[in-house]
Amino acid sequence: MPPVYLDHAATTPLDPEVLEAMLPFLRENFGNPSSLHRVGQRARGAIDEARARVASLLGARDAEIVFTGSGTEADNLAIVGATVAASSRADGTARSDLVASTLEHHAVLNSAKSLDRSAHRVTLARATEAGEVDLDDLEDLIDHTTALVSVMFANNETGVIQPIEEVVRLARSRGALVHTDAVQATGKVRIDVGQLGVDLLTASAHKIHGPKGVGALFVRSGTRMTALIRGGSQERNRRAGTENVAGIVGFGKAAELAQARLARDSVRVAGLRDDLERALLAAGHGAVTVNGSPDRRICSTTSLSFAGVPGEDLLIALDLGGIAVSTGAACAAGSPEPSHVLKAMGLSRDRVNGSLRFSLGRGTTKEEIDRTVKAVMVAVERMRRKDAQPRGVRGG
Ligand SMILES: Cc1ncc(COP(=O)(O)O)c(C=O)c1O
Repeated sequence: MPPVYLDHAATTPLDPEVLEAMLPFLRENFGNPSSLHRVGQRARGAIDEARARVASLLGARDAEIVFTGSGTEADNLAIVGATVAASSRADGTARSDLVASTLEHHAVLNSAKSLDRSAHRVTLARATEAGEVDLDDLEDLIDHTTALVSVMFANNETGVIQPIEEVVRLARSRGALVHTDAVQATGKVRIDVGQLGVDLLTASAHKIHGPKGVGALFVRSGTRMTALIRGGSQERNRRAGTENVAGIVGFGKAAELAQARLARDSVRVAGLRDDLERALLAAGHGAVTVNGSPDRRICSTTSLSFAGVPGEDLLIALDLGGIAVSTGAACAAGSPEPSHVLKAMGLSRDRVNGSLRFSLGRGTTKEEIDRTVKAVMVAVERMRRKDAQPRGVRGG
C-alpha cells in the first residue's frame, strides 16, 4: 500500500509545477543576478517576478519582501535585526526589549535567547489552555522600553491561530513594532499585511509545496533593520550573499499556486481534518482529546492526546504501517523532549506525552484519512491491551 503522509507541518512535497519552474535556473539560466550582462539579468528578472508573487500572497509591496535562506533565518533577522536596530537609535527614541510568547517556534525563542542579556530584556507571555497567547499577560509585559513584540500567526503543533489583531493593537498603543511568524499560516489563511498591521512577517517556501532552504521576511517600508549577514548589497543591504535563484523562483511559483488554490484547498483539507478528528474522538470514548481550541485553527493541523499511550510509541507503530505523523516533541540528539508548546498550555504530563500531530496537505485523500483512523484505533487498542497485561506476560 502506498505510504500516507500526514506530516505537512514539518514539510510538504514539492509541487511538480514548482519543480518545472525551478529547473531552467539550475541548468541554462545559471547567471548571477548581480551581473550586468543579459545572462545575469535573466536571473534578476526571475527573482523580481518571484518577489512580486510572494508579495501578492501576503498583500505586501514587492520592495518589502526580503528573501532569506529559511524561515528560521527570517525569524532571526526579524527578532535580532529589528530589536538591535531599535535599540541603537541615536535620536532619544531607542527601545531595547523584546516580548514574545511561550508558544513560539524555537527559531524565535532561540533568536531571542541570542540577544545580549545586558542590553536587551526578553520576556515571554504565558499561553492559555486553548493554545492562545494570554493577552492580559502580554499587555502587562509591553511597555515604553519594548522595541518588538513577536507572536506567531498559527502554532506549528496545535494549528491554533493567534489573536494577531489584538496583539498589534496592544503593541501599537505602546509604540512597539510587531513581528509574526506566519510559516504555518501562509497559503492556508488569507493574509494581508496591510490589514493586519504587522511590521514584520515570516514565511517559508517548503511549507507551501516549494523548495527547502528559502524563506522570506516581510519588512514594512520604513522599518529599521540591522542586517545579520554582511557582504554585498543584495536584498537592499538586508541580506547579503548571491541569491538562491532556483529556490527563490520555486518559492514564487509555490506562492502563486497557493494563492490561486487557497479558498478551495483550505475548505477541503479542513473537512478531512474534521473527519479524522471526529472518527478518532468517537472511537476514543473520552480517552482522546483535542489539544488547543478547535474553533480557531488553520485547516490542516490537529494535535490529539491519547490517554495512557506514549505518543512516541504510537508514532512508531503507525510508521511501521506506512503512516507518517509526528509527536509534538522535538527530538534532540535522540532524546525526545516533551513539547514546550503543550507544556506552556498547562496540559498534564499524560496529555503531553500522549500527543500526536496529524497535519494534512493538499494531496491528502479521504481514503488516506479512513486508513489512518483504522490504523490508529488498532495501534492504540493493542498498546492498551499490552499495558493491561501483568508484567511477566509482557514482551515481544
Ligand atoms: C512556526 C515555524 N516557524 C519557523 C519554522 C522554521 O522554518 P524553516 O524550516 O524554513 O527554517 C518552522 C518550521 O517548522 C515553523 O513551523
